[in-house]
Amino acid sequence: MKKFKDYFTCVPTLETERFLLVPFAREDMDAYFDILRDDRVQKYLGGGVPLFDREPHITNWLYNVNDRLLKRKLVFTWCVKEKASGSVIGRVDLGGFVKQTMAEIAYHYAYESWGRGAASEVAAKVTDFGLNELGLRRIQGPVRVENGASMRVLEKNGYQREGTLHYYPFGREFHDAVMLAKVKQADAGEP
Ligand SMILES: CC(C)(COP(=O)(O)OP(=O)(O)OC[C@H]1O[C@@H](n2cnc3c(N)ncnc32)[C@H](O)[C@@H]1OP(=O)(O)O)[C@@H](O)C(=O)NCCC(=O)NCCS
Repeated sequence: MKKFKDYFTCVPTLETERFLLVPFAREDMDAYFDILRDDRVQKYLGGGVPLFDREPHITNWLYNVNDRLLKRKLVFTWCVKEKASGSVIGRVDLGGFVKQTMAEIAYHYAYESWGRGAASEVAAKVTDFGLNELGLRRIQGPVRVENGASMRVLEKNGYQREGTLHYYPFGREFHDAVMLAKVKQADAGEP
């Protein structure tokens, strides 16, 4: 059986009914930058996803997410593509691993794709990957109190609201955030 550490050799491709989760490639970046240029997408991200649409930043970023940060077992970063059109519609991350048992999920999607269940369908897959393949016990997602859509995405996937964190570091800012989490408790006899 694959162990936690064995997953960090390359970003694994995951698949849902409508979407593919793949490592970012150079040809995906222009579409991704268009997503990031939209203030509606950035509104609740705390200024945390700056635009890095020039070289050498693009090459450095691709090296970081597909190699350096991955090999340090810090984060999986996926490009979300729609199977039908091949278009890049968003990004999802699972990272901030603690003791190989806990991680945080984060995502953002192109405004044009909102309201079609994409974030929920992808979060379901990433959550399943985290809890059932990596063997995590807890995946959490802090969501700004104003961001009802994102809370709904996680709640539809069985995440529960645990409370409000005040002045929580959010991207490069500080905001009140609702902490949502999904846990998988050990069976009797398991560590
Ligand atoms: C939040 C976001 C990821 C949702 O993506 P999406 O693909 O539209 O999500 P889904 O369609 O899967 O689900 C959205 C749900 O929220 C609901 N919703 C939409 N706006 C809402 C609001 N203001 N308050 C409460 N619920 C809302 C939708 O009705 C839907 O629920 P339903 O399926 O029960 O009808 C997307 O809006 C986004 O990328 N926002 C900008 C970045 C961001 O906020 N990322 C999350 C940071 S924590």
